[in-house]
Amino acid sequence: MEYLLVLRLKMSSENNQIREKSPSESHAEVIVRMFPSDANPAGNVFGGEILKHIDMVAGIVAQRHSQSNAVTVSMDSVNFLKPVFVGNVLTLNARINYVHKSSMEIEVKAEAEDIVTGIKTVTGTAFVTFVSLDKSGKPMHAPQLSLKTDDDRTKFEEGKIRMEKRIKNRKN
Ligand SMILES: CC(C)(COP(=O)(O)OP(=O)(O)OC[C@H]1O[C@@H](n2cnc3c(N)ncnc32)[C@H](O)[C@@H]1OP(=O)(O)O)[C@@H](O)C(=O)NCCC(=O)NCCS
Repeated sequence: MEYLLVLRLKMSSENNQIREKSPSESHAEVIVRMFPSDANPAGNVFGGEILKHIDMVAGIVAQRHSQSNAVTVSMDSVNFLKPVFVGNVLTLNARINYVHKSSMEIEVKAEAEDIVTGIKTVTGTAFVTFVSLDKSGKPMHAPQLSLKTDDDRTKFEEGKIRMEKRIKNRKN
């Protein structure tokens, strides 16, 4: 009984009254130019610089979806697939895949464009988990997802499996 009480207190009693929302309603794209201060002397952009932009665009999606403050609790499956160079235009595309209670999985894809040749290359991917917070900083339920397309449904099922693994790993 005591245990149940503790669990209830950990989740905000503030109710998120927002209706279900589809992933397309919170989708975000951010475009940034890479400068010498973002890179090493050979012109390769730092992984940390790219992570900063991944976190930022994922945060826009999480806050658009939850219409609340939302903070990063984990980043996983971060892959730097190809280098990003000074002068490249980096486009970061982010969408929400899955909502548990307060936690949301956001998928981010980074694509670098050589602005002279016009060649675009997918350079990175990541999953970022955000938690929706109420005004006092407690985790609060985020709106559930309304799945409109086959892609939404597939990504939701895949996101659910990944989130279950994260929850399990956290308990270990
Ligand atoms: C967000 C925060 C308030 C949650 O507090 P907490 O004591 O971990 O709360 P809970 O254990 O009740 O977890 C709340 C939710 O976060 C999820 N969560 C927490 N840590 C997680 C992790 N590492 N990976 C995935 N999900 C995680 C839980 O699964 C739970 O999700 P659910 O509500 O959908 O079931 C707290 O972890 C925090 O403030 N972290 C710092 C966030 C921050 O400052 N980020 C910026 C980068 S430093």
